[in-house]
Amino acid sequence: MNQQLIQRAAEDILRSKKTIAFTGAGISVESGIPDFRSAEGLWQKYDPEEYAHIHAFYSDPDKVWLMLKDMFTLVMTAKPNPAHIGLAELERMGLLSSVITQNVDGLHQAAGSRNVIEFHGSHRTLSCLKCSTTTDGTSLKIEDLPARCPRCSSLLKPDVVFFGEPIPPKAQAYSFKESKSCRAVLVIGTSAIVYPAASIPIMAKEEGATVIEINMESTPLTGQISDYLISGSAGKIIPAIVEEVRRQR
Ligand code: APR
Repeated sequence: MNQQLIQRAAEDILRSKKTIAFTGAGISVESGIPDFRSAEGLWQKYDPEEYAHIHAFYSDPDKVWLMLKDMFTLVMTAKPNPAHIGLAELERMGLLSSVITQNVDGLHQAAGSRNVIEFHGSHRTLSCLKCSTTTDGTSLKIEDLPARCPRCSSLLKPDVVFFGEPIPPKAQAYSFKESKSCRAVLVIGTSAIVYPAASIPIMAKEEGATVIEINMESTPLTGQISDYLISGSAGKIIPAIVEEVRRQR
């Protein structure tokens, strides 16, 4: 792990008047939830066009629930890892204003982060597209899946943003406000290719923020938008940054 860049990130965070985090599936890989586009990613098993597009859900909800059941099974048993916990620690130290996440697994909140913006919704509630009943998803068990509407027994859709669906307006507005007003953004575990989410670090950069990328590999942000990339796993890098912040404080 690049100790020099860890030190630089700690300095940038301590100097920054307002720091935010922008996270993707990579931050939850060490919690046992595969990401989407790596070699073992979910989209290697399920073609997103066939399983994660809102039209797919309308035309064949049973088929989409095959993928959703896989996802729910992983999410239901996943625990926050040291990366999620490290971000919650930075927030507690008053050094992190918010976490904007593309993930729907709820692990940032489980780790103790309080200001979490779920850009792609969350699996915690499900909605009926027929009679618009909303159901709590947190009490669902594997055997309850695929989940059906308690009123009209149609297949429920988790309140996660499918391809072809709009971003929840409040989440989008608040995320854009945070990215335009921050002085530093930690971009963690995202391939940065899905928009409008991927515009968040770009907007921050345009407003003069320092963009600190943490990823196993380089992305389209690297060398263009990111000030630097700390290569490696978030579960090791984030705690190292928090420790360095404590040391320098
Ligand atoms: N630590 C840091 N980075 C990691 C780790 C790890 N342990 N494991 C994987 N990564 C990196 C991968 O190298 C990759 O760059 O995380 C990134 C994950 O990218 P994706 O799988 O594309 O996930 P994400 O960027 O969140 O996808 C964005 O696409 O499918 C939609 O809605 C879905 O929110 C998702 C969006």
